[in-house]
Amino acid sequence: MGMLVPSRSSSVKLRMSKTKTAFFCQNCGTQSAKWIGKCPSCGEWNSFVEEVVSRDDKKPSGFSTKKKKSKPRLISDLQTDTKQRIPILDQELHRVLGGGLVPGSLILFGGEPGIGKSTLMLQVALRQLNLSVLYVSGEESEEQIRMRVERLGMDNPRCYVLMETELDTILVHLEDVQPNLVIIDSIQTLQSSDIDSAPGSISQVRDCTTRLMKFAKETHTPVFLIGHITKEGTLAGPKVLEHMVDTVLQFEGDRHHIYRLLRSTKNRFGSTNELGIYEMQGTGLREVANPSEILIHTQSEQLSGSAIAATMEGLRPLLIEIQALVSTAVYGTPQRNTTGFDIRRLNMLLAVLEKRSGFRLGMKDVFLNIAGGMRLEDPAMDLAVISAVLSSNEDIPVPANYCFAGEVGLSGEIRPVPRIDQRINEAMKLGMEKIFVSKHSKGLQEVGKGIQIVAVGKVEELFSELFG
Ligand code: TYD
Ligand code: MG
Repeated sequence: MGMLVPSRSSSVKLRMSKTKTAFFCQNCGTQSAKWIGKCPSCGEWNSFVEEVVSRDDKKPSGFSTKKKKSKPRLISDLQTDTKQRIPILDQELHRVLGGGLVPGSLILFGGEPGIGKSTLMLQVALRQLNLSVLYVSGEESEEQIRMRVERLGMDNPRCYVLMETELDTILVHLEDVQPNLVIIDSIQTLQSSDIDSAPGSISQVRDCTTRLMKFAKETHTPVFLIGHITKEGTLAGPKVLEHMVDTVLQFEGDRHHIYRLLRSTKNRFGSTNELGIYEMQGTGLREVANPSEILIHTQSEQLSGSAIAATMEGLRPLLIEIQALVSTAVYGTPQRNTTGFDIRRLNMLLAVLEKRSGFRLGMKDVFLNIAGGMRLEDPAMDLAVISAVLSSNEDIPVPANYCFAGEVGLSGEIRPVPRIDQRINEAMKLGMEKIFVSKHSKGLQEVGKGIQIVAVGKVEELFSELFG
């Protein structure tokens, strides 16, 4: 294997050390001294690849050569040090981050290719007129970025772009430009001269991240790292980085739909409950400030198999349409398929309907879809899901101004869900006539003067209220 590639930059000290190699699982990042066929950590076969680790692990590889001395300090002294968060003008991102950017934080922004990561980050960079931003792209050419900027129709005179993949060069530019915010698109294209292996390999990704983290912490500059997540895990998955960074944001949605969801799966500076919603337009991503507008978009005329769930995403209520199609199985084994909803949860709900309430769905195909390409997990959707399934099975529509908020337990009981008052108020605001909730919900007396609250205890009660 090769020698250490001499660094181009003068500020990064050259270190010569013995070439050291190790084997890394390309799926989960487990390190091993020898090649092994099956990863002991994630169980993947044939995933170990030899990578050169030239770096002497005992020496810290910093972004600058300046040595920092650490010293224990009193907790009470630390508080005076905390800096103000930087407000982000994109309201959805601002909220998902926990109320702005913390100086010196390292944020991994992951998502499938083509979902809109570069678009969102560039948009944030251009909108943030109070900050000087350096957008480093290792993926796109200057023309491509220029075209995208024109499409977005925004301009920030203090936004720099840099087409570069050599980390050492990038760090030199960072020291020159001294931006207030750095965006790296993407971490998998970066190459550190400390490591000999190819860009995107586990050891490269890990080393580049470590050095960028040092940069972020030492200069108090927030850094966004865009990372591609591939289902096959052929590229070193950003999963490896999740424990290194402060915040992990995920951008998801169906590429064929216009809505994109932004959530944080880890956040050292805030809650991970918040959800950001965007709409992909010809001119970039628009923030969806009032999520219930999605419902109004997708609502169609009275058809059976559709029911509206009053869900909560973080602290925001969100009314969403659930669509079900139940039909007699053509082939021997009935099919169950979902879009945006956990298929195991659907199977559980169908088993409850069959076993506890005597609905014969065992030989039926069941398809379930959350409108707008959303992927949601609130258990309060259960009640709307079974209503949609039963409505399609009976071929009787559920009135479009009915909505549902309740969890279904294994014995067919309807269980209360958190924040029922907010759900009811949102339903009322959208002109719903009835909301079905668990009869065990607390505080129902205080809410909903303008909406009829139907409290049900069992699946059968729901059925007779709806179709009885
Ligand atoms: P992109 O940000 O390049 O995705 P990623 O960086 O996650 O790979 O987004 C790509 C898609 O977004 C592309 O298919 C075109 C679409 N798009 C719009 O619909 N409107 C726009 O204004 C822009 C810039 C992109
Ligand atoms: Mg991109």
